[in-house]
Amino acid sequence: MTLIDGKKTAAEIRAELREETMRFEARYGKKVGLAVVLVGEDPASQVYVRNKIRGCEEAGIRSFAHFLPADASQKAVEELVCSLAADDAVHGILVQLPLPAHLDAKRILACIPADKDVDGFSAENLGRLALQEEGTVACTPLGVMELLRRSGIGICGKRAVVIGRSNIVGRPMALLLLNADATVTVCHSKTPDLAQICAQADILVAAIGRPRFVTADMVKEGAVVIDVGINRVDGKLVGDVDFEHVAPKTSFITPVPGGVGPMTIAMLLKNTLVCAERAMR
Ligand code: GUN
Repeated sequence: MTLIDGKKTAAEIRAELREETMRFEARYGKKVGLAVVLVGEDPASQVYVRNKIRGCEEAGIRSFAHFLPADASQKAVEELVCSLAADDAVHGILVQLPLPAHLDAKRILACIPADKDVDGFSAENLGRLALQEEGTVACTPLGVMELLRRSGIGICGKRAVVIGRSNIVGRPMALLLLNADATVTVCHSKTPDLAQICAQADILVAAIGRPRFVTADMVKEGAVVIDVGINRVDGKLVGDVDFEHVAPKTSFITPVPGGVGPMTIAMLLKNTLVCAERAMR
């Protein structure tokens, strides 16, 4: 069993990005810029946003942080996002989710132009992924692909099973694996015989948000297991995989924390650089 070290890989990527953002600056005389918008005081979101801003600093990306109060109006948030959309110094815009309940998230996200949509959440970018066209892909599934690639794990011809069908992880993950020539099955809460389907997977991606959902009987001997889950149980972070019992059966597995999580931010920074480079062509 090989442990896939996402923390180390993400640090390597940030160092590579630093070189690339320096080259961008030398060539165009301006910095790569990412705007991060946080509305309200959700503690988990505050941690994520702080880490994203720190990631920018380490990768040589200029961050524009905008913190709005929890009672900010729909109009105020939309006006902010529209002003960032029109700002040439801003190459990527990220609105941290979830937004407070009184806000219409869909309408706010619609203010982000597809070419600054570093999260890859827009219909245009998800559609481009489905059509295998150039676009921006959601950071977490992109991070999974990068971990597989850097671990030397082939995807072509493999049987891949994705548990979870969210717009942010499950769906784009399945499309990426399909585009890489895997045979892909997507399982979810209404899937009968879920355990037997998972047990056939060469590559199993768990993105359901239920602690230790994937047990040893659901995993084939020698499978690659990617755990996207981040669940807090008794103050401790645990994944969607029962790591202790599953790990011995696998050829490769990602831990939680230190697996997929750090890759999400690394891919956000990478997406920002790519958006900046596209803006210059
Ligand atoms: N909230 C949880 N994950 C994410 C993410 O990847 N992007 C944004 N914008 N919000 C999130």
